[in-house]
Amino acid sequence: MNIYADDLLTWYDHNKRTLPWRAMSGEQPDPYRVWLSEIMLQQTTVATVKSYFEKFTTIWPTVQDLAAAPQEDILKEWAGLGYYARARNLHKCAITIAHEHNGVFPSTEAELKTLPGIGDYTAAAIAAIAFNEAAAVVDGNIERIISRTHYIETPLPKAKPAIKSAVKAKTPTDRPGDFAQAMMDLGATICRPKNPDCLLCPWQLHCDALKHGDMERFPVKPPKAPKPVRRAISFWVEHDGHVLLERRQDKGLLGGMPGFFSSPWVERNNHPTVEESLDFAPLDTEWALGSGIATHTFTHFHLETKLAKATAKTKINIENGFWHPMNDLKSVGLPTVFKKIAKLNTQ
Ligand code: ADE
Repeated sequence: MNIYADDLLTWYDHNKRTLPWRAMSGEQPDPYRVWLSEIMLQQTTVATVKSYFEKFTTIWPTVQDLAAAPQEDILKEWAGLGYYARARNLHKCAITIAHEHNGVFPSTEAELKTLPGIGDYTAAAIAAIAFNEAAAVVDGNIERIISRTHYIETPLPKAKPAIKSAVKAKTPTDRPGDFAQAMMDLGATICRPKNPDCLLCPWQLHCDALKHGDMERFPVKPPKAPKPVRRAISFWVEHDGHVLLERRQDKGLLGGMPGFFSSPWVERNNHPTVEESLDFAPLDTEWALGSGIATHTFTHFHLETKLAKATAKTKINIENGFWHPMNDLKSVGLPTVFKKIAKLNTQ
């Protein structure tokens, strides 16, 4: 074994975090739980994922159970985790494994990569953690650690190949899964973006950034382009204690999720008026513009939306629309952006 892996695994044996998806020492990891947790942990923090993971594994304890669930139920339980394409791919992947692989996860990085929603990182993580393959696992935490230890001044993403080969060289053949998880724990608890706890780090003797004293400079990032602002009018229609919601198209942002009808989310410098948004209103009526603005930040843009409100005379039927009790909006599984928009109704 190499000295990096030695030092890190000794540290891990004493300091590893207890996480709901993590096998106890001596226990065989369950590939279903490893896969599910890794998909949830893409772009989402450990603290947020914990309760979702417990809920999913309680409702759907096996990949076959998840495959047999209606997509709508999965999206409902996913609500709030964001990046909803992950939930749709999660379902597709479960169906593929249940129907084409007899319910058994493929065990190599290369085979895993062919499944829906499983990219380079996730394939490597599952292969290492669930199947003990010496795959090089690189996530954002690990990029930070290696760019510090190796003093990599090339900005991301250009530095990725150098980081990956450094990780490959260090990944031990005997405990690759523990090595990957140890790196994740090191990144989360010690080699933090701000205020790293270098005195407690098992790699303090191997870290060039610590030698220079400029750890927080790494990983070096290219200058950020400012995010554009998109603006829209959202429509709140109520009738007899119910509110009109839209089931969004399967494809695209927030695909398949419930939300509010709205004018298109477009980049512009001034806010659209209700009058110019009427073509997109779900019914022809008088609208009262609410006073607040809901804001939400997506990966590539900020959204600002106002709320136009109306009361319908009947529970009209409209394409992709459905009515839901206003006092039970919780149960419908609104993505966070729509929860914020719903709040405008009470302002
Ligand atoms: N982040 C992503 N995957 C993780 C894992 N398996 N353990 C801890 N943090 C993680």
